[in-house]
Amino acid sequence: MTQERIKLIQKSWLYVMDKADEAGRLFYKRLFEVEPNVRSLFKENIEKQGKKLIDVINWIVLNLQDIDTVFGGAKELARRHVRYGVQVEHYPLVGHTLIWTLGNIIGKEWTKELEQAWTEAYEALSQVMIEEHKKGQ
Ligand code: HEM
Repeated sequence: MTQERIKLIQKSWLYVMDKADEAGRLFYKRLFEVEPNVRSLFKENIEKQGKKLIDVINWIVLNLQDIDTVFGGAKELARRHVRYGVQVEHYPLVGHTLIWTLGNIIGKEWTKELEQAWTEAYEALSQVMIEEHKKGQ
């Protein structure tokens, strides 16, 4: 990922952090609308889960320049997700839901360029997570 794309992602993320609670809520609302079957995997209060999700994405976004650290954290996260009953097929679903949520929260500042940058980042991250997931299955 180029420095330019990293900066683009980091700048756009500031909008999301301004509306962090709303973004977390919107993400799960959309996820369960699109795929109601995954609802039962979540045991934790969804409000809290939304905060955890935003926190970890925040950590990832702030550390994009240090990609080995990010991928290391992502592998640990993926191993925990095997225990949550998550399946490999769920990763694209979560990716689409994330991109949709970002577009919705960022609103008119959301551009095709941003969509491409975030999609590229999610693809790279989920690839690492899926590989790790398969090892742990
Ligand atoms: C890049 C992708 C993802 C990120 C960044 C992410 C982030 C998180 C975080 C931060 C947690 C809190 C617990 C922990 O840290 O272990 C969590 C839990 C969880 N995630 Fe994910 N996740 C991702 C992908 C997925 C996918 C694809 C699914 C499938 C539906 C999923 C379902 C869950 C479930 C079921 C839990 C446990 C909730 C509970 O204990 O109630 N996640 N996720």
